[in-house]
Amino acid sequence: MDEKTLDIIISRYEAPAGRLLGIMGEIQNQEGYIPRETLEILSVKLEVPLSQLYGLATFYSFFSLKPVGDHVITVCMGTACHVKGAVKILKALEEMLGIKSEASEDGKFSITTEDKKFTLEIARCFGACSMAPVLRVDGNLYGYATPENLPGILAEYGWERHEN
Ligand code: FES
Repeated sequence: MDEKTLDIIISRYEAPAGRLLGIMGEIQNQEGYIPRETLEILSVKLEVPLSQLYGLATFYSFFSLKPVGDHVITVCMGTACHVKGAVKILKALEEMLGIKSEASEDGKFSITTEDKKFTLEIARCFGACSMAPVLRVDGNLYGYATPENLPGILAEYGWERHEN
């Protein structure tokens, strides 16, 4: 994000240093993620320690420090979903997307397919435990997930099976 755009965002806030989440939310919405350099500039402009901004960016699952794919799939790994088979869901998604789980450098689990169509992430709880296991694709929640119904769900977002 260029500095001018960042200045415009900051100018919308009366006491910007107390509105970090709002400012970072706008950056995330515009860029799809929060670029590292933008955080550094923000830190200088608002005189807020960079470590504090990183702390916020890594604490809230809404924020991402690296670019994500066209569609973000988030698997709930909270207790209820874990008990009901979230690990199987995650493994099935890895297989379907041809990617392998790993923690990203910001400490979050987040991995994007080579064609940049999908990003796979995990989260703690969506507050929909009665429908466990649950996943979210972009803003849409899908409950009672099974490895068998995942192809149907992802097909809504342009996923196609590739036979090896
Ligand atoms: S534990 Fe998954 S929605 Fe609550």
